[in-house]
Amino acid sequence: MYKKDTVALVTGAATGIGLATAQAYARAGCRVVLADRDEDRGQQAARDMSALGVETLFVAVDVTDPDQVSTLHQRIIDTFGRLDAACNNAGIEGDMGPTADCSVENFDRVIGVNLRGLFLCLKSQLAIMASQPGGGAIVNMASVAGLVGFAGLPAYCASKGGVIQLTRTAALEYAQLGIRINAICPGAIKTEMIDRITGQDDDTEKQFAALHPMNRMGTAHEVADTVVWLTSSQAGFITGQAVPVDGGMTSR
Ligand SMILES: NC(=O)c1ccc[n+]([C@@H]2O[C@H](COP(=O)([O-])OP(=O)(O)OC[C@H]3O[C@@H](n4cnc5c(N)ncnc54)[C@H](O)[C@@H]3O)[C@@H](O)[C@H]2O)c1
Repeated sequence: MYKKDTVALVTGAATGIGLATAQAYARAGCRVVLADRDEDRGQQAARDMSALGVETLFVAVDVTDPDQVSTLHQRIIDTFGRLDAACNNAGIEGDMGPTADCSVENFDRVIGVNLRGLFLCLKSQLAIMASQPGGGAIVNMASVAGLVGFAGLPAYCASKGGVIQLTRTAALEYAQLGIRINAICPGAIKTEMIDRITGQDDDTEKQFAALHPMNRMGTAHEVADTVVWLTSSQAGFITGQAVPVDGGMTSR
């Protein structure tokens, strides 16, 4: 599936979908760069992977900081000399509430991480991949909340809609340079983020499950496997797409 020595980066890799994706890249035989603002858990995840013989690099980074994002990508080049696959996954849900009650601070914070932070990473990755032989492939973590509205999450929905449009635009711009860029749109996936949103309340979790025709939430591994497939040569003719991993939710 991947050539030997493939280098894969995952942001937001300390937990949840990002951690599962980093582990899936490791299983696929890649060298794995984990980036997260949570230094303790990110380091631990990288150590656990190294103990299994995987070549890993952890970089503490807040994706909202352009200098830290530049440093992250420079460290990847200094360490491995190239970057073949990237999953821009770091994200936050922000506060919940209707649009008129969404504070400007919350709006800026959510857009700052989910859209501006992803844009900063994407910029660095495109510059690297455009200048190396073989191009590369990028997956941006959007959400079903970028395809349809969700009451109570205006900033989050706006940020994920923006991620999808950024993805489509970059895909058009870089198609001829051998760089594929896609987005993934997960439904509700059982991670710490969803636990924060549902409060781990049984009834609320059942309501979330019922949003999906398959009547369950997804797992981080189901999203991770889709990421690893999308950046592999098996998905070599797919670019500019927003791929739902949502148990059928957006087919309703
Ligand atoms: N869980 C879901 O139901 C779901 C659904 C659709 C999309 N998503 C998206 O998937 C991605 C991962 O979600 P998750 O459920 O695993 O969330 P999570 O909260 O479990 O993990 C998010 C990770 O991102 C890191 N992070 C947050 N802000 C960061 C920053 N500024 N810089 C660097 N790292 C940062 C956190 O430290 C954490 O490790 C997010 O973009 C989220 O919006 C999640």
